Amino acid sequence: MSVAATTARANVNLALVKYWGKRDPALNLPATGSISITLGGLSVETEVDFNGSGPDRFEIEGAEAVGDEARRLATFLDLVRREAGIQERARVSTRATVPRGIGLASSAATFAALALAATRAAGLTLPPPALSLLARRGSGSAARSVYGGFVEWHRGARQDGADSLAEPLAPPDHWDIRVVVAITDTAPKGVSSRVGMARAASSPLFPAWVEGAEADLAEARTSIRKRDLEALGLLAEHSALKMHAVGLGARPPLLYWRGATIECMHRVWALRQEGTQAFFSIDAGPQVKVLCAPEDAIRVMEALGTVPGVQRVLTCALGGGAELVR
Ligand code: PMV
Repeated sequence: MSVAATTARANVNLALVKYWGKRDPALNLPATGSISITLGGLSVETEVDFNGSGPDRFEIEGAEAVGDEARRLATFLDLVRREAGIQERARVSTRATVPRGIGLASSAATFAALALAATRAAGLTLPPPALSLLARRGSGSAARSVYGGFVEWHRGARQDGADSLAEPLAPPDHWDIRVVVAITDTAPKGVSSRVGMARAASSPLFPAWVEGAEADLAEARTSIRKRDLEALGLLAEHSALKMHAVGLGARPPLLYWRGATIECMHRVWALRQEGTQAFFSIDAGPQVKVLCAPEDAIRVMEALGTVPGVQRVLTCALGGGAELVR
């Protein structure tokens, strides 16, 4: 039994303690826990309609998705169909306010929005923890985009993954912080996070990465509770640099940075020398995301905007969790 077409929206998130490496690739079970902030305004909106026969059809920004992308989405819908006990194929159409595939975590928003829209369209009303478990199957980081504000995704210990879900640590209004994003390259990324994570496991630095995770998570929870920007920012930088160091040690090596990425890091360190609290994070791509206080966002934007190679700078506040639009 399917219901009417349903639309949901979800925001991207930025991990301050990164998820990098899986203990089970098929179920997207992470090697470590992670902590993120959900970013307002960088979102994906998805409409799902289980309307009948034929193959599932996916439209992304008005163009039909084919190949691997379509297969990944169809595999996810199979999970929803199984849970709802329906057979109908779906029409899915997706629009984003965030550029895709360039390391701005659009897959997190995509699968969080799809999990909510598809379950409702299939006649299911899942509570957020169940939605987080489901969204994780599409893209690990999507487990966190189900919630707004400050979010922790637990590694979990069970083999079936039933305890590997996200949970809110604090709502967006707990602490008003900003993230300035410097876009250094808009070409689609060369190595997906799925391939990157598989490669990371070959790095001799990977065991050290896993070993440090619990301490990083504890430190992040404390600095979020205390609203300590310097402690949280320094930790976020440390987590991102460690994640990328794991990649450098992999075989074959993995390097997501471009020249401008490195120049942005130096600019952030220079800002700190001048007394502005700014701290960077970098995901599986060349963009640089900088954490700062609201009153410093313009200064940080101006500083990053003049780094040679930076194409665009945008800023966001914290945002809410996945929600139904219609
Ligand atoms: O959820 P995925 O498979 O797109 O992986 C996300 C990986 C990072 O963005 C690099 C880190 C993270 O925790 O979001």
